[in-house]
Amino acid sequence: LKLVVLISGGGSNLRSLLEAAQDAEYPARVVAIGADRDAEGLVHAEEFGIPSFAVSFANYPDREAWGDALLEQVQQWQPDLVILSGLMRLLPPRVVAALSPNLINTHPAYLPEFPGAHGVRDAIAAGVSESGASVIVVDNGVDSGPILSQRRVAVLPNDTESSLHDRIKLVERELLVQVVLDIANGTIDLKELVS
Ligand code: GRF
Repeated sequence: LKLVVLISGGGSNLRSLLEAAQDAEYPARVVAIGADRDAEGLVHAEEFGIPSFAVSFANYPDREAWGDALLEQVQQWQPDLVILSGLMRLLPPRVVAALSPNLINTHPAYLPEFPGAHGVRDAIAAGVSESGASVIVVDNGVDSGPILSQRRVAVLPNDTESSLHDRIKLVERELLVQVVLDIANGTIDLKELVS
């Protein structure tokens, strides 16, 4: 399975996929890594010798123009699956339509709880005793697509946004590596889910 992974930040979840793909038995390979900015996580591309591209949102007059430029870069690699792993940008409908259903996203909450860009902060603010991690199919909403996998993560009394996020990321990575495996071996059929 050829993967293109899109990031905005440190790419720690991306790194977990790169490490999983080191195993010759793992039926997926990251063929390119993209970002909407000069993301720190692009360093993993260099380390693992994988092509990368950055389509900076700031260089475009609007979201649609940015999305079209990003889509052009992504489609060059003819991916079987595109993974948003910490991409902190909503994709324009044209991009979602072009890539769906082979477009998934990781989110640091137990969706549909706490969608959006601040899921971890919102869980802390809500004072819940547990949150979670989710992997979903991307649709035109915000973290609203079909849920492929999710798991609860405890919130500890003295948790900060960062300590909780770190704990959630550990689970996100496990879910992501497993979901990609399930898609590669047909256990998950995205076309059936998004029909
Ligand atoms: C992940 O928790 C992802 O779900 C969220 O932002 C975080 C990105 O972390 N959207 P990283 O860039 O993979 O370290």
